[in-house]
Amino acid sequence: MTSAEIRKAFIDFFVTKHGHTFVPSSPVVPLNDPTLLFTNAGMNQFKPIFLGQEKRSYTRAVNTQKCIRAGGKHNDLDDVGRSRRHHTFFEMLGNWSFGDYFKQGAIEMSWELLTRVWGLDPERIHVSCFEGDPANGVPRDEESADIWHTVCGIPRERIHYFGKDNFWEMGDTGPCGPCTEIYYDRTPDKSGGQHVNGDDPRVMEIWNNVFIQYNRNPDRSLTVLPAKHVDTGMGFERICQVLQNKQSNYDIDLFDPYWVCLQQLSGHTYGGRFPRTNAPDPVAEAADADLRRDIAFRVITDHVRCLTFALTDGAVPGNEGRGYVLRRILRRAVRFGRQQLGLSDPFLYQLVDVVVETMGEAFPELKANPSTVKQIIREEEISFGRTLDRGIALFIEAADRARGIRRLMPRMPGGCMTRSVFRST
Ligand code: GLY
Repeated sequence: MTSAEIRKAFIDFFVTKHGHTFVPSSPVVPLNDPTLLFTNAGMNQFKPIFLGQEKRSYTRAVNTQKCIRAGGKHNDLDDVGRSRRHHTFFEMLGNWSFGDYFKQGAIEMSWELLTRVWGLDPERIHVSCFEGDPANGVPRDEESADIWHTVCGIPRERIHYFGKDNFWEMGDTGPCGPCTEIYYDRTPDKSGGQHVNGDDPRVMEIWNNVFIQYNRNPDRSLTVLPAKHVDTGMGFERICQVLQNKQSNYDIDLFDPYWVCLQQLSGHTYGGRFPRTNAPDPVAEAADADLRRDIAFRVITDHVRCLTFALTDGAVPGNEGRGYVLRRILRRAVRFGRQQLGLSDPFLYQLVDVVVETMGEAFPELKANPSTVKQIIREEEISFGRTLDRGIALFIEAADRARGIRRLMPRMPGGCMTRSVFRST
């Protein structure tokens, strides 16, 4: 299946088979929620329903939500480029129950979609449940574990328990609850159990079912909500990775056009190489220009998607708040382009067209005014380029001056200049 077909299959499953209403994605810029920098999950737009402040004409919803996780409680910025599965911008497929079905309904539907509709191997599915928080009166989630075991037939050894990673919160305050996460084990012999909730890319979380029952208050206490709700989140690029049998989110069809465009702009080819770990390894990267270039391809691609969606939804780069986060993201992309791909002229804005072509069908708002988005990005690139050029010129001047002084200076033992002479320059 193509990524477009996977997106459609998810939505159709919940609309036609299980009576959900399709609700369009909310903007990535949550202008009426001061607790959030960016929309970080599909449930954000439903917060007033969970809190009992608003009612809708439906009690079941499905959508694909545009999310940004850069800054705030959920922040993946530093992993982008090195990681196989992290993005600042990504899509999250989700289904919701507002006081309608609860744990059994949600788990049964997840199981049906994954194993019967999409044909994933049930023996490769692991799940995790909340181990409980007695101090806050939240019990261990045996109920979900029993449903996974008795209704879906998952053996107990593939049901794992964790603490805070199985209690989902959108921010420091707001609706929250215990969650059960679904992992897919792609080790050859299905032995990946010990990597659940770890870093091994072969054992990846693909879906989170959250059972919203509480509101987190500013003093960290929990208030029980008037009704029980379901909020699920499935990383779209991750499920595409699994269903398309790829080794990374960046290998799915959705990203191919970016590699082509960046190749045309830079003359370099994307090779799909990843570091052995997500953590920066300057020594390994210094020795491997191909790897550095592949990281740059991914950084630029991820960041232009993020910028295009954020600017389309009304954000602008600036010096504070979300504007500052966007400016940092833009400058990070430009730096990678300059340093690793030799792109010294503005280039990022040219990739906006690729975002519109690949995502405009699912998110038609992208087609409304791409030229303004391009113009804002281009102007930022020009201004950052000037800053960089000035900085580099100052650095060269200072280095030349230091070299000149060094030639005139008596040497300290070990070859260093004295601090006082260095200061006097
Ligand atoms: N709201 C569920 C999730 O983001 O995982």
